Order: sequence, then structure tokens, then C-alpha cells
Amino acid sequence: MNRRDIGLTAAAAMAVLAVGGCDGAKTAGGGEKATPAAAATAAVTPVPLPVGPNFPVPAATINGWVANNDTAAIQGHAWSLWQAMTAPSGQSVGQQQLPIWDTWADATTVFPQPQAQNASLKTEAAAKPGADRRFQSPAQFHHTKDARLRALAMAAHAKFPIAVDVKFDPQAAGFIGAPQSGPGGGTYSYASSASLTKLNAAWPAGTTPQNRGINEFPVQAIETKPVFGLVKASGLTVQPLWQGPSASTNATHPTPDTWMTCVLVQPGASGAVRAATTAEISSVAASVQAQHLACKTYLWAPLSTFYADQMNAAEAQSFNAATENGAVQAAAGDYSVLLAMHVNTKEIPFWTWQTFWWQPGGDTPNNFPGSKQGQPSGLGAPWNNYAACTAYAQTTTSGGATMTVCFNPYLETSPGIPVGVTSNCVSCHGVALIGNASYPADYKKPIAFFTDPNYFTTLTTHTDFSWAVADAPP
Ligand code: HEC
Repeated sequence: MNRRDIGLTAAAAMAVLAVGGCDGAKTAGGGEKATPAAAATAAVTPVPLPVGPNFPVPAATINGWVANNDTAAIQGHAWSLWQAMTAPSGQSVGQQQLPIWDTWADATTVFPQPQAQNASLKTEAAAKPGADRRFQSPAQFHHTKDARLRALAMAAHAKFPIAVDVKFDPQAAGFIGAPQSGPGGGTYSYASSASLTKLNAAWPAGTTPQNRGINEFPVQAIETKPVFGLVKASGLTVQPLWQGPSASTNATHPTPDTWMTCVLVQPGASGAVRAATTAEISSVAASVQAQHLACKTYLWAPLSTFYADQMNAAEAQSFNAATENGAVQAAAGDYSVLLAMHVNTKEIPFWTWQTFWWQPGGDTPNNFPGSKQGQPSGLGAPWNNYAACTAYAQTTTSGGATMTVCFNPYLETSPGIPVGVTSNCVSCHGVALIGNASYPADYKKPIAFFTDPNYFTTLTTHTDFSWAVADAPP
């Protein structure tokens, strides 16, 4: 359970990347003796989700579930994706065997910064994500153009540190990395905003907003947004536990710092979730106060209820940079823990949407916005400590008026997102457009993709629901 003994190998990987500017693969292979073996350990080969009866499921089948509002089938599919993604990959970093999803390339690899644009380097990077996790601040929080909302979002984010590491399965990464055909016989890179801006300007006059879209991702494409928190190597770490908006001091924007139930997480321990002892509670009192957390009820749980990774110095530094939090700082040896994960698959044209969050012990009251119900019996720990909700369509019935509600308590509760707890994934991602980064003004009714003139105009190009592509770096 650690990715740590990679100090040397990470440095070697950097060396590969540095020489990659000339001719990555070859130079690394023929370089000094120590480098190739070390670099091989540091690199992770992305493992695709196995193809079978449960993936990819034919679009007609999934659309049938949607049409019939077959929530059991939809929830069942979310769990089968989770079970498949979290299965051991055969790839290891240090002593830790990675689940399949954690072998996938992250945003820093799939969207290389401009200085790393050399073609051979790109191929090397796309094929082999590094061993070190590179944490990012969730762009979703500072994405809004409304400065007031952005300030509120960042203030809440600064109280309770979380970081993301957006990842793409080999099909999605390959699609974003490959040259894509477009209007005027041109070829475009979906990994570069400079190229996407050219695409945006290249549509022949008269092209309808509907037809101004990037090419669609392949059916087996999967995008994920894992969310990580911090557990200190020693002592008890205070981790707020989602128990629904009514167990928060702010029912409209119930961000983790407002949750009134908290779990004291202990590394190196075992046992079931239980009430915390008086001694345990007093040992964290100062920390709760320093972080301005809303904890009133305390539980205890072992670290093993999470998917957890011990961080090296570089990862701890990356976590601290992504979380901008003064009260809690990560250090080498501390753990990054998986708090939550968004998962999209392109099995249907408007994608499937499911999200998972840490929920050890019982489900939330009212199972809101989802639960652990329907988990496959073969789903082992720690993955069975996560609850899920789904939004395979904007409305609960085809053509209906009732919006599907599905959100992740760690993300869409942010005050930077106006109506996160009464909305869903699809509505917001459907308005991902090149050169127009606004969120939908109104989620009360479904948005007509890609014809609603409020969003889809002749000035923009829709990006197949991918905010990552809409927000590509230069
Ligand atoms: C209010 C808008 C909004 C809502 C609602 C929303 N997202 Fe996102 N999402 C974003 C933005 C912006 C990003 C850009 C990357 C980031 O935040 O780091 C993103 C990123 C992602 C990514 C990474 C790939 C990509 O497209 O950029 C996934 C996967 C994802 N979201 C899934 C979901 C799921 C599943 C839900 C519902 C449970 C959801 N999102 C709800 C705005 C939203």
C-alpha cells in the first residue's frame, strides 16, 4: 500500500521526459545503464476496461433503461462499471497494485503544456503516465465567471482540502491525443486551445449551432474525476462524513466543512466503523477548531476503509499546491485518500453519468442523493465503502419535467455552482463549449442539446460534453 519507493525512479522518469524533447524512446533506451530499468518502474501502462457483456453495453439497451426509467438497471450498470474499474490491473507502483482506473493517463499527460509539444514526447507521455500523482485544484470551483461565486467557492475549498486528478481511459486519451479531422479539410488537436480556437473559426457560414461540434468520442471512452483528501500518517485525522443536507450547517451549499458528522480516521488500525471515544474526540478538538469544521457527532474508522496511497515528498508538495489550505498540510509519508470519483462513459451519445463517494457504515438518511444499494456481492473492500448516484438523462422520464438529481457531495455542493444539489451532471456538461465557459443559468428545465439558442450559437463549438476539452491549455 504505497507508491513511495519511487524517489529515484521518478527522477529517472523526468530524465526520460527531458531527453524526450529530442527523441524520447530511443535516447532513454540507449542512455546510461541505470536509467532504462528505473524508468520502466516509474512508468505505468494504462490498462483498458475489459470488454464484455457489461461494457460497452449497446446504446439501444441503455437508452431503453432511460426510456423506461429503469433505475435498478441504471444503478446496476454504475456498479458494474465501478467493479470493473476498481479491479486489480496487474500494474504496480512500489508495493501497491493499482486498480485499473489508476493506471489511466491524467490531464497533465493527455493535455500537455505547450512546451512539451514535441510529437515523440507526446507519444511517450500518452503511453506511460508517471508514477507520481499530480494533484490539481478542481477547475470546477473557479470556473464560473461570476467573481462573487468564485470567491465563495474558493473560501469553502480552502477550509477543507480536496484535490483532483482527472483521468482518461486509453480510448478517451487516444482520441484526445490523435489528430482530428474538421471543417475545411483541416486537422485539429483537441488537446490544445489554440487549435480548438482555429476549429471554432473554421465552420463554413451557414453551419447550424447543432452541427458545430467536435467529433464524438469513441464508444469505449471513459472520463473520470477522482477526488482526494488527506489523512496524516500519525494520530487521528478528522474527515467529515456526508449525511445529507440536513446534517450540514448549510443546506443550500453543504460543503464538507459544514457537515456535522465527522469520522476520526486512523492509519494502521483495523475494525468496523464505530462511535468515537471521549478520549479520541478530545485529541482532535484543536484540529477541528483550527479548520473551522462543523463536527458535532464523531465516529471512528480505520484508514483501510479508503483507497489510500502514501505520498512521497513530491506528491505531498503537489497536494499542498492544489489545496491552498493553511490549516492542514501534507508531508511525505501522509496518505492521499480517495474521497469521491465522477465517471462518464460514451456508451450512449450523451454519455452515462455516475458518481461515487466515501460512505463507510450505513447509507445516508433518505439515500440522498444515492446509496450503496445494489452493490455487486463480489465488490470487495475498500471499494464497497463508496455510495453512488446516476444521471443517465436530464429528466427522470423521457420528455418529462422532473429533473434528475445527482451530484457528488464533495464537488457540486460548492457555492461556486449555483444549484448543484438540485441538478445533475448532464445539464452542466452539455453546455461545454469552446471559448464560452459559462455554466447553465437555469437547471429548472432540461436544456435542448445543441439547439437552445441561449447556449448554442454560431460563435462556439460544443465539445461532446467534455469540459476538459473545452478548457484545454494553450
Ligand atoms: C456546474 C457544472 C458541473 C456539474 C453539475 C458537473 N460537472 Fe463535471 N466538470 C465540470 C467542470 C467545469 C469540469 C472541468 C474539470 C475540473 O473541474 O477539474 C468537470 C470535469 C468533469 C470530469 C472530467 C472530464 C471532463 O469532462 O472535464 C468528469 C468525468 C465529470 N466532470 C463528471 C461529472 C459527473 C459524473 C457529474 C455529476 C455527478 C458532474 N460532472 C457534474 C462541471 C460540472
